[in-house]
Amino acid sequence: MLVLIADKFPPSGRDVLARLGEVVYRPELSAEQLPAALGETKADILVVRSTVVSETALAASPPLSLVVRAGAGTNTIDTAAASRRGIFVANCPGKNAIAVAELTMGLILALDRRIVDATLELRHGTWNKSKYGKARGLKGQTLGLVGFGMIAREVAVRARAFGLKIVTCANHPIAPDVLEAHGAIQVADLGALLDVSDIVSVHVPYSKTNHHYIGAEQLARMRPGATLIHTSRGGVVDDKALAEAVRAGRLRAGLDVFEGEPAGGQADFKNIAGEHGDVYATPHIGASTEQAESAISDEVVRIIESFVARGIVHHA
Ligand code: MLT
Repeated sequence: MLVLIADKFPPSGRDVLARLGEVVYRPELSAEQLPAALGETKADILVVRSTVVSETALAASPPLSLVVRAGAGTNTIDTAAASRRGIFVANCPGKNAIAVAELTMGLILALDRRIVDATLELRHGTWNKSKYGKARGLKGQTLGLVGFGMIAREVAVRARAFGLKIVTCANHPIAPDVLEAHGAIQVADLGALLDVSDIVSVHVPYSKTNHHYIGAEQLARMRPGATLIHTSRGGVVDDKALAEAVRAGRLRAGLDVFEGEPAGGQADFKNIAGEHGDVYATPHIGASTEQAESAISDEVVRIIESFVARGIVHHA
């Protein structure tokens, strides 16, 4: 059995996989180089994180039977083509939920207290205490969580500790005991959530059906001066419409994901932020903690062990 790892993956995980078969570690591979690497190695199993897996890549290695995404989202993999070819696709939902929730809280706090601007000024020798005396504070504000999956729930746990009121919306009823355990109230729909939230945080995966789920209409419905936090997936929010709302001084934004990333990520950020200090952003680092990367590595290993031993993949 040959496992091709086409993104960064911890040595400890690679060592365990090497006991199951041959491991070819090519973290530098781009999406364009992936088909040739699959063709050369004739990999049985492919492990990826950010590298896009196209139908051409899936077709390049006839023995390929499993693709494992070392992350939660599967939108970087052509899953329809994989199904047609009988190739399993597995992901690691929940394993980086705490890390993403921590970054979400970081963006909320950093925007409210303007931590980045204050740091940059101080770094350049300016002690401007009075300029930073206008934070709103979080206690008593309403946080609207769009979606209530594993990441949103971890955000709720942390946001509660800051005294935020939590509302959520989903396209299905959320079990009352789950809502109660997280101190959250489910409102009728996205519109109702936007009406009442001071901070809106997006936690739904990307799919064709929710492309621009938060578009111009939804952004216009947000409270004036409200904050949008987006750590889920580029494309769920209409970045162009967000740029207009930010430039009009209507909204603030904390972003970890962009429509054109990775190549267009910087341009996307510049488009949205312009000269505005009302946008704080990070380059898709939500899942990038040692703890999350170790949990993901363990899960990838567990999935591959299970697939090799029993020919099945089930979520833990
Ligand atoms: C995920 O899908 O879990 C993350 O986006 C992983 C990543 O950082 O690539």
